[in-house]
Amino acid sequence: MDLTAFHRWSIDDPESFWAEQAALIDWHQPFTRVLDHRHPPFARWFIDGQTNLCHNAIDRHLATQPDQPALIFVSTETGEERTYSFAQLHREVQRMAAIMLTLGVGRGDRVLIYLPMIPEAVFAMFACARIGAIHSVVFGGFASHSLATRIDDAEPVLVVSADAGSRGGKVVPYKPLLDEAIALAAHKPAAVLMVDRGLAAFDRVAGRDHGYAALRETHREAQVPVTWLESNEISYTLYTSGTTGKPKGVQRDVGGYAVALAASMKHIFCGKPGETYFCSSDIGWVVGHSYIVYGPLIAGMATILYEGTPVRPDAGILWKLVEQHRVSVMFSAPTAIRVLKKQDPAYLTRHDTSSLRALFLAGEPLDEPTARWIADGLGRPIIDNYWQTETGWPILTVAHGIDKTPTRFGSPGMPMYGFDVQLLHEQTGEAVGNNEKGVVAIAAPLPPGCLQTVWRDDERFVKTYFSSIPGRQVYSTFDWGIRDDDGYYFILGRTDDVINVAGHRLGTREIEESLSSHAAVAECAVVGVADSLKGQVAMAFVVLRDASAVDLPAERLRLEGELMATVDRRLGAVARPSRVHFVTVLPKTRSGKVLRRSIQALCEGRDPGDLTTIEDPAALDQVRAAVSPPPAAPRS
Ligand code: PRX
Repeated sequence: MDLTAFHRWSIDDPESFWAEQAALIDWHQPFTRVLDHRHPPFARWFIDGQTNLCHNAIDRHLATQPDQPALIFVSTETGEERTYSFAQLHREVQRMAAIMLTLGVGRGDRVLIYLPMIPEAVFAMFACARIGAIHSVVFGGFASHSLATRIDDAEPVLVVSADAGSRGGKVVPYKPLLDEAIALAAHKPAAVLMVDRGLAAFDRVAGRDHGYAALRETHREAQVPVTWLESNEISYTLYTSGTTGKPKGVQRDVGGYAVALAASMKHIFCGKPGETYFCSSDIGWVVGHSYIVYGPLIAGMATILYEGTPVRPDAGILWKLVEQHRVSVMFSAPTAIRVLKKQDPAYLTRHDTSSLRALFLAGEPLDEPTARWIADGLGRPIIDNYWQTETGWPILTVAHGIDKTPTRFGSPGMPMYGFDVQLLHEQTGEAVGNNEKGVVAIAAPLPPGCLQTVWRDDERFVKTYFSSIPGRQVYSTFDWGIRDDDGYYFILGRTDDVINVAGHRLGTREIEESLSSHAAVAECAVVGVADSLKGQVAMAFVVLRDASAVDLPAERLRLEGELMATVDRRLGAVARPSRVHFVTVLPKTRSGKVLRRSIQALCEGRDPGDLTTIEDPAALDQVRAAVSPPPAAPRS
């Protein structure tokens, strides 16, 4: 069966299709129905089936490969390297689970995980999965305000954190940010479990904070049986940015997610038990959840957990890891490749990467020059894949486990089985033809593995995702796309106010709110601007309460720095605007809407588009002046 037929089967008869995929995992109790779509757009998969993600990723491999590597931890930041076999990982997860039980965590309780890329993060995720607690991992690069918002939304019983992470050789303390976040939040977690890496001293709050090392010792021989969960119970929530300032808790199930990942490991990533998978993302993002933690281990592969950057100690480090661990499947982001592109290409061939069957790239557009550079330099197949936090696994790519559909530069490929992808006209909701731009939409039901809803907000789920295209109750990805005559899709950027900086998904509204918290700011607009390295960067335009505050260049520089620091402190350095420009008025429509698209166009040197509704055309001149390079000094 080729990919088109495979896809057709999944759409025409999802029940038989997914029943077959469901055999890829273990069920404690079989499901009685494959799909319940009686209340669209909500879909429930594998009704009454009982299973467990931790069992499928770890326990079930103990019989056949207890001593095979499961988790390979490498930190080029601290010089640590530790490999855990499936049996060892099983033990560590049980110890962590026992600690959680002692700290009062029960089935359905939330555990917030705010950790760097260390094995304890993986233990904590699996411990939650094992006992039926819901984890919510927050990216370590987020700061106190972001963390506080998530604490208030998730209301965790327990937070698992560490003294510090390290990036580029610099220690990044976590605990002060966590303490500040808990102080800011209305919800107060009962307990904090601290992993002390010995990187940074930190304050302990008596009665609340517990040391992981000591508790781990008291649970030496812990045996915590798997809690069997109904397929539709919640495995985790993961916050992601949208149009509004408030991040959404993407909520996922247990059984559907396990089946979707197992199927993707077979059909898309083609990973085999005993091999090694290396995904260089972070556990704080969806790629890390699906393809560092759950996917590879469900498939019986070893997974590499890498704390470090792609250029330290040198730009060959990723390939060195491939060589050392005979990695067969690798996953990274276009930004990482663009970073390497600035280095000596000889690094690409210094190590033996012949074990690598494919390098998968996702998270942001993969531009053709970068794709060609890495394909030529490495001599291995490069596979672009397009998806979202919401979907959990690829929407568009090629599936070399099904057929050998060739990849095409600039395109992430074709719709994957389970995804009824449609390109629709933004205003009419009609399907657009080939080579016409439309919104990438997916007809309900979303396949297994996708979000069930927005955590505690079914209404927001329906309103945000299924009500944006007129007359059609379809899921909107909020991405523009186009399909060529051969069925290959191309992604053309977001339709909303989400930007993508170095593969990190950020909401411009969150950055605007953060800037507006500064007393000097009257109003502001943040837009994403094309950047050759990071894909996009955030650029801010700020109207001050007192414009004379930046009359002098030195004052301007100081305030720009202060505003950037405000974003760093509240959201995290990942969200810091690359520049803050001061203007006295923002371009708006007569009804008061900021013309972000026009600002963005000017920043990218493009035509600002239709300006018939603009209130004050001079406002655009200020933006233009702010972003145009100063005239070259006359030569004497
Ligand atoms: O705009 C698309 C872009 O990243 C968004 C999703 O980001 P996130 O929720 O962080 O999930 C990333 C999972 C890989 C999408 O709406 N995006 C993701 N992959 C691609 C992409 N844009 C172009 N090409 C891709 N391969």
